[in-house]
Amino acid sequence: MADTIHQNVNVSNKKRSGSDEWERDDTALKGKKGGKSSGQMWEDPAAALASARHEFGEHGGVNMSIEASATFTVMEPETLRRMFAGELGPDHDYFIYSRHFNPTVLNLSRLMAAMEGTEAAYCTASGMSAISAVLFQLLSSGDHAVASRTLYGGTHALLTHFMPRACNTTTSFVDIRDLEAVKGAIVEGRTKVLYFESVANPTLTVANIPELCRIAHDKGVTVVVDNTFAPMVLSPARMGADVVVHSVSKFISGGADIIAGAICGPAKLVNAMMDLRQGPLMLLGPTMNAKVAFELSERLPHLGLRMKEHCNRAQHFATRIKKLGIKVIYPGLEDHPDHTLFKSMANKDYGYGGLLCVDMETEERANRFMNLLQNHTQFGFMAVSLGYYETLMSCSGSSTSSEMNSEEKELAGISPGLVRMSVGYTGTLDQKWGQLEKALFRMQDSSSTTTTTLFQK
Ligand SMILES: Cc1ncc(COP(=O)(O)O)c(C=O)c1O
Repeated sequence: MADTIHQNVNVSNKKRSGSDEWERDDTALKGKKGGKSSGQMWEDPAAALASARHEFGEHGGVNMSIEASATFTVMEPETLRRMFAGELGPDHDYFIYSRHFNPTVLNLSRLMAAMEGTEAAYCTASGMSAISAVLFQLLSSGDHAVASRTLYGGTHALLTHFMPRACNTTTSFVDIRDLEAVKGAIVEGRTKVLYFESVANPTLTVANIPELCRIAHDKGVTVVVDNTFAPMVLSPARMGADVVVHSVSKFISGGADIIAGAICGPAKLVNAMMDLRQGPLMLLGPTMNAKVAFELSERLPHLGLRMKEHCNRAQHFATRIKKLGIKVIYPGLEDHPDHTLFKSMANKDYGYGGLLCVDMETEERANRFMNLLQNHTQFGFMAVSLGYYETLMSCSGSSTSSEMNSEEKELAGISPGLVRMSVGYTGTLDQKWGQLEKALFRMQDSSSTTTTTLFQK
């Protein structure tokens, strides 16, 4: 039976090579390695995805088969013992149990590794499970992390409240644009992780990834970057980041119908995280379902196209909102403080991200604006999350950043009236701009005193 199993695995592992040959690649965990660090040219993430191994179905289908089994059988009892002893593993198509490892999830992980340009990847049940598993792996009792003070509220709470209580770790939050402050916050010997978001949620502050990595690596600190806001647009691992995490629930999924996450990094780290006795992936069980992995693998091939249109529309709207004299935050605008930095790091032709923020200054005005956009002009939906094909908008201070107290929000630059918009791509651009503009004009009309600050002179 083992032969049958392995034949089946081999069929689904067929590789499309440049010479039209079909061959098997044994690097089970590994994606494609290359880029600056290994002296090769960095490919565009779309090119890297296209040259990653294409998985076929068991019967030659163009799409891979789903390995829907929770457990896997073997021919010899001895094989089980050897698998549990770590002598036989997924790298040679030996699978124990799907909480540990599933071949369909592995196939998606390979694509994620290719896209981020890392050696390996592991897909998880949510973005938070990816983030927490990485932090549990890299931080032990007594260790210290340095983190950006502008982070997704859940990550901020994990580092501020949960980990000190459950793991006895501490975190210093800094303004990561202040490189001297980052350097100063690192305690040599104690600081193990530098954590930040490539584009911060919700302020859209852009991290200087190469410089931050240089500072951290000089002091032996591991760099973990959350690239949820900029998949394909920015490639943090190609700029030196050790680990890239994603909330796959957002742009990568694109359908607002799946909660998922990913950890992209060195094979050594991913393997250690899967360890049967010590690894958080095996022991905490943040496992992705194989059916979800299949769904997502069908969406990755058009992520690049979707990102380009999200970015295109965000750029278009931000430019026009700004022309109306309204406070808008978008890294693609030349007067955004991080515009040049973003440009210097971005992969070519994707743009500057699919999110923009409009600062309505007070929560009341933010709510009125969102109400107009959803219930009167049909521009988008009031909902948290991002990366959906429809526009989603939320007032960050009272929603996705509400885990932070007022002082933390102020330090992070989150104004009470900040409306974060994840720009969708349904409808025509003109139609959507018309809906947005109408709501902006209604806001202008409905308030004569406060709009003088909202509509800049
Ligand atoms: C930047 C960022 N990272 C991580 C997460 C958590 O991801 P998930 O909801 O998939 O657990 C979120 C969720 O909003 C996020 O915005």
